Amino acid sequence: MAPLHFTILILFSFIIVISSSSFTPPRHPFDPLTETELKLVRTIINKSYPIGPNHKFTFQYVGLNEPDKSLVLSWYYSSRNHTIKPPPRQAFVIARDNGKTREIVVDISSRAIVLDKIHVGNGYPMLSNDEQEASTELVVKFKPFRDSVAKRGLNVSEIVFTTSTIGWYGETKAETERVIRLMPFYLDGTVNMYLRPIEGMTIIVNLDEMKVTEFKDRSTVTMPKANGTEYRISKLNPPFGPTLQNAVLLQPDGPGFKIDGHIVRWANWEFHISFDVRAGIVISLASLFDTDVNKYRQVLYKGHLSEMFIPYMDPSDDWYFITYLDCGDFGCGQCAVSLQPYTDCPAGAVFMDGIFAGQDGTPAKIPKVMCIFEKYAGDIMWRHIRKLKSQT
Ligand SMILES: *[C@@H]1O[C@H](CO)[C@@H](O)[C@H](O)[C@H]1NC(C)=O
Ligand SMILES: *[C@@H]1O[C@H](CO)[C@@H](O)[C@H](O)[C@H]1NC(C)=O
Ligand SMILES: *[C@@H]1O[C@H](CO)[C@@H](O)[C@H](O)[C@H]1NC(C)=O
Ligand SMILES: *[C@@H]1O[C@H](CO)[C@@H](O)[C@H](O)[C@H]1NC(C)=O
Repeated sequence: MAPLHFTILILFSFIIVISSSSFTPPRHPFDPLTETELKLVRTIINKSYPIGPNHKFTFQYVGLNEPDKSLVLSWYYSSRNHTIKPPPRQAFVIARDNGKTREIVVDISSRAIVLDKIHVGNGYPMLSNDEQEASTELVVKFKPFRDSVAKRGLNVSEIVFTTSTIGWYGETKAETERVIRLMPFYLDGTVNMYLRPIEGMTIIVNLDEMKVTEFKDRSTVTMPKANGTEYRISKLNPPFGPTLQNAVLLQPDGPGFKIDGHIVRWANWEFHISFDVRAGIVISLASLFDTDVNKYRQVLYKGHLSEMFIPYMDPSDDWYFITYLDCGDFGCGQCAVSLQPYTDCPAGAVFMDGIFAGQDGTPAKIPKVMCIFEKYAGDIMWRHIRKLKSQT
């Protein structure tokens, strides 16, 4: 399904508490770009490519430019005694500049663009929230669309859209134009828009020109009723559904993890947690303190969702092109929503915000986009296996 409501959680199983040391580490090379850094990137880029309503320059992605692994590891293994400085902080920017895709690396400390090139070849940058919103506003005002809605006896104010890339099925359009196809859905009494598609229309918007470039009203298809589409648990109380009792995990001594900037320490584990507008949650340099050798052993250098690919596999005209690429098209971070304390994350959870650059480069914040908490995971089976072995 479309990636509009995507939450990120980290769950731990619940074991024991070990406190962390009290030293303050230097800035971690994997820390996400801060609001100040994003503003600086915008200012630096504006010197070469003036940003503003009269210029077709848009930020499609801004994130940390992945530092060289060997530099990160040298820093990491020396960081406990501060002998090596972390690698330089850089931002990686993918921009759309007058119908071309530009890849720019900005060095934060020298305040300079250190790489700038036009992307050649297939593929387009991630969709920004702003251009998806702008395209739906465009279609709502588009006369032929309004006529088709009226013909179906529907209320245009109750229509919402999905905005999908069109894939490549041999047409030349997708190769030469950055276009999306919009699919209308009807609310009017439901909160579950996906159950009420208004099928039969083809609506294509060119994002660089922000214009409806193709509109077809092919057929009118019967739309499902709104009745019986409620799925929210709070609305499912008697007589519609069961009442659930609240359950609480008690931690009288507080949580068993410690958070130091973006570093999380729990039991004999240590890792870095970060947010990226495309990848979503990123876990780096996860390591385990090995008491046999009295030092940390690295387990994972960097890990995140690489892609969630959701092909609909329906060959009809309304659906064939829908092959959701959640990270690449929509951004797993950009689609993430704020987590609700006690609903998404239990008492004692620690929340972190996510910061990303909007289409004009201005930082935007998703408050409470990640949460960290411990969770009792039940009795562990291998405990019993070990017991059996020792009895033999
Ligand atoms: C971009 O630079 C122009 C001058 O070239 C300036 O007028 C404008 O305020 C700058 N915009 C931002 C967002 O820094
Ligand atoms: C700093 O730590 C590294 C790695 O643990 C070690 O090899 C090096 O000798 C230490 N340097 C000093 C000055 O203590
Ligand atoms: C259409 O929907 C809007 C928003 O829900 C509502 O205010 C308006 O009364 C509706 N119009 C008709 C004709 O039902
Ligand atoms: C929707 O379903 C409920 C419960 O079955 C019923 O009471 C109600 O009349 C239905 N509403 C419509 C508009 O069909």
